[in-house]
Amino acid sequence: MCGIVGYVGPQDALDVVLEGLRRLEYRGYDSAGVAVLADGILATAKKAGKLANLEKVLAEHSLPEGTTGIGHTRWATHGGPTDRNAHPHLSADGRVAVVHNGIIENFAVLRAECEAAGVEFTSETDTEVAAHLLAAAYAETPQGPGRLAEAMRRVSRRLEGAFTLVASHADEPDTLVASRRNSPLVVGVGDGEYFLGSDVAAFIAHTRDALELGQDQVVEIDCERGVTVTDLAGNRVEPTAYTVDWDAAAAEKGGHDWFMLKEIAEQPQAVADTLLGRLGEDGGLVLDEVRLSDQDLRDIDKVFVVSCGTSYHAGLIAKYAIEHWTRIPVEVEVASEFRYRDPVLDRSTLVVVISQSGETMDTLMALRHAKDQKARVLAICNVNGSTIPRESDAVLYTHAGPEVAVASTKSFLAQIVACYLVGLFLAQVRGIKYADEVAAIVADLRRLPDAVREVLDRMEPVRELGRSLADADTILFLGRHVAFPVALEGALKLKELAYIHAEGFAAGELKHGPIALIDQGTPVVVVVPSPRARESVHGKVVSNIQEVRARGARTIVIAEEGDEDVVPFADHVVRVPRTPTLMAPIVTAVPLQVLACAIADTRGYDVDQPRNLAKSVTVE
Ligand code: AGP
Repeated sequence: MCGIVGYVGPQDALDVVLEGLRRLEYRGYDSAGVAVLADGILATAKKAGKLANLEKVLAEHSLPEGTTGIGHTRWATHGGPTDRNAHPHLSADGRVAVVHNGIIENFAVLRAECEAAGVEFTSETDTEVAAHLLAAAYAETPQGPGRLAEAMRRVSRRLEGAFTLVASHADEPDTLVASRRNSPLVVGVGDGEYFLGSDVAAFIAHTRDALELGQDQVVEIDCERGVTVTDLAGNRVEPTAYTVDWDAAAAEKGGHDWFMLKEIAEQPQAVADTLLGRLGEDGGLVLDEVRLSDQDLRDIDKVFVVSCGTSYHAGLIAKYAIEHWTRIPVEVEVASEFRYRDPVLDRSTLVVVISQSGETMDTLMALRHAKDQKARVLAICNVNGSTIPRESDAVLYTHAGPEVAVASTKSFLAQIVACYLVGLFLAQVRGIKYADEVAAIVADLRRLPDAVREVLDRMEPVRELGRSLADADTILFLGRHVAFPVALEGALKLKELAYIHAEGFAAGELKHGPIALIDQGTPVVVVVPSPRARESVHGKVVSNIQEVRARGARTIVIAEEGDEDVVPFADHVVRVPRTPTLMAPIVTAVPLQVLACAIADTRGYDVDQPRNLAKSVTVE
């Protein structure tokens, strides 16, 4: 939520900052702004709407050339998405410029204090208070190297809530400072140049050498002095250095119209890479990164899976596999509810938090609550070095590569695979499955990249179907067993991309109320479980298709190759390859992603940046 970029070095700062903002725009696109420090003056430009609006303004009136700059792309919290509320915000004397991601919870008190001192505010944001406080703190800080950083520490100590703040001062032409609490910030280290970013995409075109910043730390980047990190008391801290394992090309569209299409196409690779190095030669699993001892894993008597949105749906799917393979009870919960209902947790509870971004505030807060209660926390995450894996006891990375489109696709498939690895590993360590049983499931996992490739090769009829559904008011999604969370995910994709009312239901629940929604021609997408699924669940879903069709529904059926039972009741059949019951979500989710994308595209919407959304949700 909100993208932040900062640059000091020999290049034209405006170019570097704008390029960074282009790569971070997925984080928020209500407004954008930049500030460049040139000849002792901070020049700013900001505009409501997407970055393109700001670029238009800059094409008409560019900023003076400078080598220090900051930029921001906003997802509005306090104050509407207007030019006035766009960042950067300046202090009253125009000497300090600040960009911010997060929410300063005590801003009202601080604003009143500034106003009492005679400061006039020019925006409705919580951020502006930081610019005024910083100017005042700077005036009170003794001159000398590190003065702006010290002022930032003084201000940060007074702030409550979540913030990444990046600031520039007109008196310090080669320096930027930043501070972080509960919001993301990484430092890029180039050759004689330094970068700040909400994530590494901000500077990936310039360097892959990055530094992680911890909670409540302040960093100064300075052309002469390099990078200095301290805690809020001013004690030096050694940041953790790492090399980003993807390059700028991975964050480009690569010939596709949308990032989402590229990311859908990358799914076979995402699944393969998530399995890579984790399937042993002997058919067992090798999860050396899971830093929990075998004894810890044997002591677990309960698993919670906690996450949001698409990651929550991955958790719902994981429950079927983990319970089936380990016989340990699994509860799945949305992170925003988890800690407020006082869940029963102790040392023998494993809490699996799933997050593509590793920055989702609801999930982070759930994680912290679980740790406070002494539970063990394992993170499944796609972004190296992000806050959630850093604060967890153990981590299993999904190697899906950078996901830029706001709607999750490849990370969803990779999350399911990672959850399955965790479940199977637990079963292996606890001796619940014989080695040959684990090996058989591992063999099923190995076949998944090809199965996804096969689905992708057959998507043209789905795109065509999508075009024909573009005028629908409502589309319902049904599924049973593992196909139920897939139906929920199909509905979420459609809502967020095409702004069409969509709901996912457990097919068996339909007759308890929702069937009243079905009218003549209502499109109903049914995700059919494998005919080999538990008991007669397949037969029951076939009956459910008949029930909705009898009431006028237009039925779109996702069924596996060779399942002829569905044919008489389907207006459209989308075929997926035959896969073992628990593996089916990996293939059945794909047509639903393609369908939502095609409908949104036909309706003329921005598929990568749907309205009102942001890729990583760093506020509660
Ligand atoms: C899904 O398409 C959305 N982008 C959203 O639901 C997302 O999955 C959710 O916000 C969780 O994000 P995370 O995986 O980064 O924690």
